[in-house]
Amino acid sequence: MPSTRRPYAVSDDALSNLLHEERRFPPPEELAASANVTEETFAEADADREAFWAKQAERISWESKPTQTVDWSNPPFAKWYADGTLNAAYNCLDRHVEAGKGDKVAFHFEGEPGDSRDITYAELTKEVCQAANALTELGVDAGDRVAIYMPMIPEAVVSILACARLGAPHVVVFGGFSADALATRIQDCEVEVVITADGGYRRGSASALKPAVDEALKSCPEVKKVLVVKRTGQETEMVEGRDVWWDDTVAKASTEHTPQAFEAEHPLYVMYTSGSTGKPKGILHTTGGYLVGTSYTHWATFDLKDNDVFWTAADIGWVTGHSYLVYGPLANGTTSVMYEGTPDTPHQGRWWEIVDKYKVSILYAAPTAIRTFMKWGAEIPQKYDLSSLRVLGSVGEPINPEAYVWYRKNIGGDRTPVVDTWWQTETGMHMISPMPGVANGKPGAAMRPIPGVSIDVVNDEGKSVENGHGGYLVIREPWPAMLRTLWGDDQRFIDTYWSRFEGMYFAGDGAKKDEDGDIWLLGRVDDVMNVSGHRMSTTEIESALVSHPRVAEAAVVGATDETTGQAIVAFVILRSGGEVDADKGADIVAELRNHVAKEIGPIAKPRQIMVVEELPKTRSGKIMRRLLRDIAENRELGDVTTLQDSSVMNLIKDNMAGSRED
Ligand code: WT7
Repeated sequence: MPSTRRPYAVSDDALSNLLHEERRFPPPEELAASANVTEETFAEADADREAFWAKQAERISWESKPTQTVDWSNPPFAKWYADGTLNAAYNCLDRHVEAGKGDKVAFHFEGEPGDSRDITYAELTKEVCQAANALTELGVDAGDRVAIYMPMIPEAVVSILACARLGAPHVVVFGGFSADALATRIQDCEVEVVITADGGYRRGSASALKPAVDEALKSCPEVKKVLVVKRTGQETEMVEGRDVWWDDTVAKASTEHTPQAFEAEHPLYVMYTSGSTGKPKGILHTTGGYLVGTSYTHWATFDLKDNDVFWTAADIGWVTGHSYLVYGPLANGTTSVMYEGTPDTPHQGRWWEIVDKYKVSILYAAPTAIRTFMKWGAEIPQKYDLSSLRVLGSVGEPINPEAYVWYRKNIGGDRTPVVDTWWQTETGMHMISPMPGVANGKPGAAMRPIPGVSIDVVNDEGKSVENGHGGYLVIREPWPAMLRTLWGDDQRFIDTYWSRFEGMYFAGDGAKKDEDGDIWLLGRVDDVMNVSGHRMSTTEIESALVSHPRVAEAAVVGATDETTGQAIVAFVILRSGGEVDADKGADIVAELRNHVAKEIGPIAKPRQIMVVEELPKTRSGKIMRRLLRDIAENRELGDVTTLQDSSVMNLIKDNMAGSRED
């Protein structure tokens, strides 16, 4: 069916720019006084970008120091620090032990059932050496790919670093993915060894993982060995000759292992991410630039200090887990928290209990989690002592101003800056974020590019837009942690990211520059709607809805409409205590439509608003607007395989009948 949706066009600058946000949050004085990043840092990076990144390379221990910074002679294929050699695991482990920090805690691990374990840098180093020795025994050599399909347990980190130590690129597949998804990735990357676990704990019970590996491997005959961690102790079938227990191999291996240095451009890992069409893309990250980029941004964006306790509440199966749970924090010798389970197991205060227990000072979470906490109510975090927190981070989607303010106020005690970090699996590192010691924070804005990063917003012709205007978000210069290609498909790499605008990386996101030149993200460009010739961003209408006191979460889509081209259809979740009964439903709907009209303008008034209990989300928490569009347009549902919980779609469909407003 041909789409009636118009291509995203911004040359006439019709992109809605109407939502006003006047609140400002300057940095706390104390933080500003000792900030890692200051205005001088920006000036220094602007004066000589390459020299800036050459200097940041000194954060890393090189076996042989690079004399080159970036080689951009063959765009879009960049090389960073190309003549340097290093070992990524050595940088994350041994060097801290050698510097006398062996007793520092690397991870406070908190299992879902309540078990916990503190792991020091010395202990982690030993375990990684053991795993590297065991993998070598299993036949893993430098360059071989290893798939990791695990729950959020310390052995997942150990596995990743053991691969890095051997120069064997890891391919972590999120433990919530199906056997099929695992098989596709194993095949695409020609993996020969898989590391997994019997199971993990999720929502209060043991959930098996190994059977999905067995299922996947039916179509992956090249896989020779499977290494299995015992986490839950549930009954697990082992295939003779192929499967071995971690306890029988890794735990018995030598704790001595000499790391070998690899070239800076040696592949570090492949992480698959789905596009709107086609098979998943294998994003390739390499060693030196990635380590410099992640360690620098982890230090800069969060204003990291030696005694911070840092918590990235994301799964290791996503890039956030790779860059800010493993490589950035460990390269910086940070103490981190790692939590296995869900936020409401065994109770809705679990996260805050953990913050209180470990005195977490920096928390990094997704807007979807924050809006869930809003829905549960502020009285839950209020029961805990959260005074250790000093910086809060957000990642994954635009954060609505209301969610930002709620987060700052109810979690951050109205003292902590909120850093809204924009980046992608492809960028490997933060690209746009307020710097907590300098930014005059605006709720909902990602503010400025990271020092040394060159971002722009351009129109259809690829020309920079003026302040106060919207367009396409692009990256103008190479950056150290950038993806190098798509695994096995250079052409798709060029076509996907580098062909829309000459000489620029196109991220797929819409953005606007406000009057001060600060950047606001407007969502993926294919989420932009066109209503009666006015282009409007789903993000802005969602933000307007969430600014109503009774709304916890909102998803907006454009549905084909005979009259207006597209019509705005909104799905909202009310805050707890705000359930509506059938006859009152119409009141809140009318109220919300008027609220949007007041906040943005009558043109933005949704044609329909549906009050729902849940929204369809991918496993990484992104709303699947495509499915909501199917519902809004009364179509058969498209592919639902990446949906986290497929029952929500039926719930929403049942709700839809008779909800149309005229
Ligand atoms: C897409 C990348 C970044 C790691 C997790 C997601 C959206 C991400 C923000 C933000 C607005 C954001 C963009 C981007 N996104 N962070 N702070 N504000 N949008 O990684 O799965 O590769 O997704 O997520 O649309 O392109 P990913």
